[in-house]
Amino acid sequence: MTAREVNVPLLDLKAQYATIRKEVEPVVLEVCESQYFIGGPKIDQLEKEVAAYCSAKHAIGCANGSDAILLALQALDVGPGDEVILPTFTFFATAGSVHRLGARPVFVDIDPVTYNVCPASIEQAFGCHAKVKCLMPVHLFGQAADLDAVMAIAKARGLTVVEDCAQAIGTEDVHGRRVGSVGDIGTYSFFPSKNLGGFGDGGIMATNSDALAARMKRLRNHGMEPKYYHHEIGMNSRLDALQAAVLSIKLRHLDAWSAARQANARWYDEFLRGHGAADSSQPVDSGGLPIRFPKAPAKGRHIYNQYVVRVPAGIRDAVRDELAKRKIGTEIYYPLCLHMQECFKSLGYTPGIFPHAERAAKEVIAIPIYGELTDEQRLWTAESLVDAVKRLA
Ligand SMILES: Cc1ncc(COP(=O)(O)O)c(C=O)c1O
Repeated sequence: MTAREVNVPLLDLKAQYATIRKEVEPVVLEVCESQYFIGGPKIDQLEKEVAAYCSAKHAIGCANGSDAILLALQALDVGPGDEVILPTFTFFATAGSVHRLGARPVFVDIDPVTYNVCPASIEQAFGCHAKVKCLMPVHLFGQAADLDAVMAIAKARGLTVVEDCAQAIGTEDVHGRRVGSVGDIGTYSFFPSKNLGGFGDGGIMATNSDALAARMKRLRNHGMEPKYYHHEIGMNSRLDALQAAVLSIKLRHLDAWSAARQANARWYDEFLRGHGAADSSQPVDSGGLPIRFPKAPAKGRHIYNQYVVRVPAGIRDAVRDELAKRKIGTEIYYPLCLHMQECFKSLGYTPGIFPHAERAAKEVIAIPIYGELTDEQRLWTAESLVDAVKRLA
């Protein structure tokens, strides 16, 4: 079968909305009628539902996933003079939140197969960083980081762990544990492009600790408890009732949406393998068609917030341009590692120090994976990718 040219946006939220419009509109109207926009029953309900979904005792809503990280770190007493270890290959917010608290982000390299934090690189970082207080693995693209290794390091050194689950709601590790419930706190984003995305910004923190939950609840509301009595300086970072109402409806569909993404991933894997590509356990220059699709985890649950392939660095941008010409949306997550960002120049990192992350930044390209992709869109995307790489490589 040869594909016909069709438009394939990187993400099509309108297609998703069409499937839930009838359920969402009444609850939005209900919030409007109630005029109860901040706090209230919709927030309480969503927090209970997300806690259960993430296998955590508590979930505390906040304004976005970046604040969720900041509030989690603050609740763990991370502040000036402290260091937090995190992968250099992630979205900016993971490190930005550390810096905003006056602490120092300590970057480490990634595992080139999963793009998640490399435990050996964490161990190495202790050689020159004596003030590490917290480890922050990121479950990138929807796949669990190696939590056994991260938790073992944390335990041996008496460190806390914040799991950045912004891209990984419902992800499970090799033991079937939902991410976010293993470390001290898991942080999530409801940015619209996430598997569970709101109609605007939103975030949530999950924890099994009563004390941390109580503190984060206070911190998201100016450190206030009771009203107008402030124990410490928090911020205004609340999730609003309209978002909570929409998210409660969308949560009912989340498993089906993530399953549809997994099915698309399996389809791409097979298509690309059938055309001579290999999975990400092989470097892109190791032979065969130079496309490397993400190696599916043997155990656990990958929710494929992104489906990221590698192509040779020298042709990556040209491949992307070719796909754009064919009306196929792609994105580069992420083109510049955090240790190379202008704003972190003063931390003194030099190029070449994290070779796996730096190479990934030059080779990766995310292709459309959302559940509403039609067979035609999927085929057009996969055929176009193979064709572009064959012509350009
Ligand atoms: C890995 C990661 N961490 C943190 C965030 C921050 O979430 P938000 O955009 O909701 O602030 C994001 C979202 O893009 C993310 O992908």
